[in-house]
Amino acid sequence: MTESNTIHFPRVIGHRGAAGHAPENTLAGFRTAAALGATWVEFDVALTRDNIPVLLHDETLERTTDGTGKLAEKTYQELSGLDAGAWFGQAFAGEPIPRLDTAVALLDTLGLCANVEIKPTKGRARKTGEIVGRTIADKWPKSMRAPVFSSFTSEALTAARESAPTIPRGFLMHRMRRDWREQAEALDCLSIHCNHRILNADRARQIRDAGYRLLAYTVNDAKRALQLTDWGVESVFSDFPDRILAI
Ligand code: G3P
Ligand code: MG
Repeated sequence: MTESNTIHFPRVIGHRGAAGHAPENTLAGFRTAAALGATWVEFDVALTRDNIPVLLHDETLERTTDGTGKLAEKTYQELSGLDAGAWFGQAFAGEPIPRLDTAVALLDTLGLCANVEIKPTKGRARKTGEIVGRTIADKWPKSMRAPVFSSFTSEALTAARESAPTIPRGFLMHRMRRDWREQAEALDCLSIHCNHRILNADRARQIRDAGYRLLAYTVNDAKRALQLTDWGVESVFSDFPDRILAI
């Protein structure tokens, strides 16, 4: 496995696959990202009731599938017939909610590296971090460059660190947190992943000067990406990776 200090972040990481072009957090999204020229994708992982890690952003099924109710209350079997693509477009009808191990196998086939965002549902942070960590430690092909974990939830990153100590971690921030240094240091993070709206040149410098790699989400405007790059942002997460690759 690649050591964390040799991680090479690309200019752009496909957000939830390539969420502007294909349904988020689906295998079709990964294929689309690869076809657009992305070399990395970001996706969100949570647990079913029976502790199967699957790709889903929301706590509930309604927005991105034809199911209803809370993910944490469904077994994997109950999710297996759901459609996670038709809401986005009929061309994607029949896309399943992917299991994490299935997603990893496709990333290997496509040669895509990943930022695995651990997105625990309420009260399940430790378990989600532990299981996602273990799944990646077991299933991530040794021939591939190491992925990076990230989470807004410190407890999930702590658990992932325990089950997959060699996989680097990124600390996610949606709003500026006063304690970001303490959090990142305690979790021995490689990187800080910020909502781009909370960044300015000064904050970016502080994060870089503290020794952290800096990534920003969700950036769909090429000019904004250039400005962030000037401030020291290495990678932007984009729903339209093609727009960023074009500059
Ligand atoms: O990991 C970057 C970004 O995906 C975090 O926010 O809500 O899109 O998962 P969200
Ligand atoms: Mg995410």
